[in-house]
Amino acid sequence: MGPQRPPLPLVLLLLLLLLDTSVWAQDEVLENVNWNCPNATRFKHLRKYVYNYEAESSSGVRGTADSRSTTKINCKIELEVPQLCSFILRTSQCTLKEVYGFNPEGKALMKKTKNSEEFAAAMSRYELKLAIPEGKQAVLYPEKDEPKHILNIKRGIISALLVPPETEEAKQVLFLDTVYGNCSTQVTVTTRKGNVATEMSTERDLQQCDGFQPISTSVSPLALIKGLVRPLSTLISSSQSCQYTLDPKRKHVSEAMCKEEHLFLPFSYKNKYGIMTHVTQTLTLEDTPKINSRVFSEGTEQVGLAFESTKSTSPPKQAEAVLKTLQ
Ligand SMILES: *[C@@H]1O[C@H](CO)[C@@H](O)[C@H](O)[C@H]1NC(C)=O
Ligand SMILES: *[C@@H]1O[C@H](CO)[C@@H](O)[C@H](O)[C@H]1NC(C)=O
Repeated sequence: MGPQRPPLPLVLLLLLLLLDTSVWAQDEVLENVNWNCPNATRFKHLRKYVYNYEAESSSGVRGTADSRSTTKINCKIELEVPQLCSFILRTSQCTLKEVYGFNPEGKALMKKTKNSEEFAAAMSRYELKLAIPEGKQAVLYPEKDEPKHILNIKRGIISALLVPPETEEAKQVLFLDTVYGNCSTQVTVTTRKGNVATEMSTERDLQQCDGFQPISTSVSPLALIKGLVRPLSTLISSSQSCQYTLDPKRKHVSEAMCKEEHLFLPFSYKNKYGIMTHVTQTLTLEDTPKINSRVFSEGTEQVGLAFESTKSTSPPKQAEAVLKTLQ
């Protein structure tokens, strides 16, 4: 089980030590991490890919609009590629919004939440280093103090950027690394320009993924935002579909949109219709400037792309703190 949280002064002390060692560690950069990845990813090294990111999570009783609660995240995303298959993700300028009402046409009206600033600070505090050796499974090197729920949101962003490899067949089933683990995925090339796929889509049944844990917390860290952290008695279905637009020349992701739909029956509730949670993530490319830095240090902690439960490893008090941060 997870270690006990030390009292605050110790945390501060550790933090100071950490800051100190990280300065020192920067001199010890591994200049030549040589992954075996010829053209395994779509991102060229010595470039930075700047995206606008938007994620919306809404939950409500199926078939009704009034009880729907919606939360929206916006961030600027920078994916820097200092070396082949090595990346540094930076998330800045985040905002967190929620619905405060509906206009006469039934359209949701959104406003910034009280803790939007706090959320923005947490999202931009640490960069996240990752590597995708051989272009297959992502290895993440989070900073020691990165909170799990923030790391999970970053995992969601990375996952939305991982376009499957191009295939010659128009349709193919592949096993791909996702935030829900290893998932059987139907990959379709919908448009080609010459030989190059310019539009692709993926579909997956999330219950088939080996890392999908609907019982532990909520189905998605984005769903967690609105406090859906109670055990789900019956998950009826969970599916995800993504659409990618790719640059015809350089093959990077110009736009990615992933939609998830989770349908479940809540615990002890008279509701016979079930609750539906939708999560939509959109990434839109804004710029691809060149960079000079080849610096990439792996970091000591290594984790995978799959979401980590934020509840089972921490006492209830901390789960509350998570919700406070995000609500
Ligand atoms: C890598 O790129 C080259 C040239 O663009 C191509 O001929 C080769 O098939 C690619 N290799 C893989 C594994 O995709
Ligand atoms: C994913 O699952 C499939 C089928 O069980 C397996 O063949 C494949 O090796 C797995 N991939 C990874 C990266 O674990």
